[in-house]
Amino acid sequence: MNNFTIVKLLLLGYMGSGKTAVGERLAEVLDIPFYDLDLEIEKGGQKSVPEIFSEKGEIYFRKREVEVLQELLKSDERFVLSLGGGTPCYGNVMQIINKRAGVTSIFLKASVETLTHRLFPAKQHRPLIAHLQTEEELNDFIRKHLFERNFYYHQAALTVHADTTVREIISEI
Ligand code: S3P
Repeated sequence: MNNFTIVKLLLLGYMGSGKTAVGERLAEVLDIPFYDLDLEIEKGGQKSVPEIFSEKGEIYFRKREVEVLQELLKSDERFVLSLGGGTPCYGNVMQIINKRAGVTSIFLKASVETLTHRLFPAKQHRPLIAHLQTEEELNDFIRKHLFERNFYYHQAALTVHADTTVREIISEI
């Protein structure tokens, strides 16, 4: 990868696909800043993502995702940015990303089994899955959700397999 021509790298994929861990490491390797869209939204509104979901609702959150993303894309800074799991699926985000010069999107593609295994212990921090009781329920939810979301994720410029370690994912990128 030539980091003189690619200015902004956007990581996308389902919750638990490793966007933050991979993004932090990738930014370190490339020696450019790292941003996490959820954190930028939280900073701007002084509320956590679960608080935004419960106090203002999902539609408001989706609107904020697009607004904050557009703000970040306007800067001429180089950076690595990890999107939220749902960001690419709302507000024509993939079109916005794909038509913007100097922006490359990378889909971290992990299997339903990997995602279930990674997400089950930490599900209470994620409003969309916090209510699911068993690993089977979570597995079923993710399978159906990915069926809807893969259409958007597959519009990324690059796809890398994300069932492995951060180091292996970085070297594949
Ligand atoms: C969401 C993913 C979360 C966060 C919110 C909604 C989703 O981000 O934006 O809970 O719709 O998949 P991560 O993918 O970083 O967990």
